[in-house]
Amino acid sequence: MRISKDIITLSIVGLGGRANAYLNALEEYYSGKYRLVAVAEPDLEKQKMVKDKYNIPTENIFADDIEFMKKDRLSDVVMITTQDKLHFREFAGLLAKGYDIILEKPIATTIEEVIKMKELASKYPNQLIAVCHVLRHSPLFTKIKEIIDTNELGKIITIQHNENIGYYHYVHSYVRGPWRNSEESSPLILAKSCHDLDILLYLTNSHAKKIASFGTLTEFKKENFDEEKMADYCIDCKVEKECPFSALKIYSSQKIKSVVFDLSSVDKIRKYLGASQYGRCVYRCDNNVVDHQSTIIEFDDGITATFNISAFTSKINRTIKIMCQYGEIRACEKPYLIEVTNFKTEQTKQYEIETTATGHGGSDKKFIINFMEAYLNNGKFNSTLLSAVESHIMAFLAEKSRINGGKVEEIK
Ligand SMILES: NC(=O)c1ccc[n+]([C@@H]2O[C@H](COP(=O)([O-])OP(=O)(O)OC[C@H]3O[C@@H](n4cnc5c(N)ncnc54)[C@H](O)[C@@H]3O)[C@@H](O)[C@H]2O)c1
Repeated sequence: MRISKDIITLSIVGLGGRANAYLNALEEYYSGKYRLVAVAEPDLEKQKMVKDKYNIPTENIFADDIEFMKKDRLSDVVMITTQDKLHFREFAGLLAKGYDIILEKPIATTIEEVIKMKELASKYPNQLIAVCHVLRHSPLFTKIKEIIDTNELGKIITIQHNENIGYYHYVHSYVRGPWRNSEESSPLILAKSCHDLDILLYLTNSHAKKIASFGTLTEFKKENFDEEKMADYCIDCKVEKECPFSALKIYSSQKIKSVVFDLSSVDKIRKYLGASQYGRCVYRCDNNVVDHQSTIIEFDDGITATFNISAFTSKINRTIKIMCQYGEIRACEKPYLIEVTNFKTEQTKQYEIETTATGHGGSDKKFIINFMEAYLNNGKFNSTLLSAVESHIMAFLAEKSRINGGKVEEIK
């Protein structure tokens, strides 16, 4: 059993966007209740920033995960927030060192690794493994779950769930960015949507039995590159002005906030976007992940679900419709709304969900709060490795089905 304690010591492996989101939440809600004592991160600027800000001794700043893993355990908790492919080796090494772990999703990038992680976790039952399936902590999905659990609407019969990636977010992350190529990172349904498969498991409180999936890369591929008019980089393209996917448009409008380029002059544009992977023509990248995918799932108790991921949406949000015996729940993000209609009373209720609207609609913060409360008070935490393993297996089998033309896969 973990021992309840007043101050939690923390190490971070991979100090990027996600680690900073969680650190900000820790600072906002738990200042004085945690201490960052070690960081493994190759970027020298990030190393310096974090060392100064958190007063970390030089010997506890490591050039990478391998160097960090050579040391005995340095803190209660380690946060694994590197890119997808490193998670498995870090998890395996750090679990054996005795750390409690906050692990980013996807937890691993092959089905074999995921199964191995389940095996490893069973050997260390007293260590907490918190997977960053932050949707389980979102104010919106927490409220939906609460409504389902009142049982007023009876059993869930079927669900339609959509992940609307947003065209500009899709081209940023999945055509030009780190998750563009499944060999380098992982298939879209894993990278983007293990969250969504996990939330279906959470809402149905069931297990998936069968899965089938269809989808292709239709738009963002070399066949759609016009040699006469287009160019390798948007800055040199003759049709840039009419292209919705233009890097100049996307970054100058600051639609994407995580990467900020100074585009105030032609020289600066050439300097930043002419040489960066983010300035590339969307029809000339080394991407291969699908731009739309439709998946059908059958759960143990006859519940069915369809799940759609699409790049071709204006908004970045999720929309869901849950059809129950005696009523229906419709919900969406941004604005965060839930509408519940009860067939027995013929009444419709609406709930507006208050969120800070940053970090997955408040989910990142709530994830940290729930983790810290569980950790400080030896309580339960609901995004565990076991539930994550199940959603990841669903994603791998959906991808297998998609590659095999939609063949139904049994989930054992
Ligand atoms: N939970 C969510 O909702 C969510 C959202 C986005 C991304 N993610 C996942 O979070 C993870 C991190 O994403 P990010 O956007 O923060 O990435 P990032 O690229 O911003 O951060 C990764 C960091 O790891 C560092 N790094 C690289 N190699 C390293 C090594 N060998 N040892 C230690 N550090 C190393 C990089 O320099 C970088 O600072 C990814 O797996 C991503 O898929 C999760």
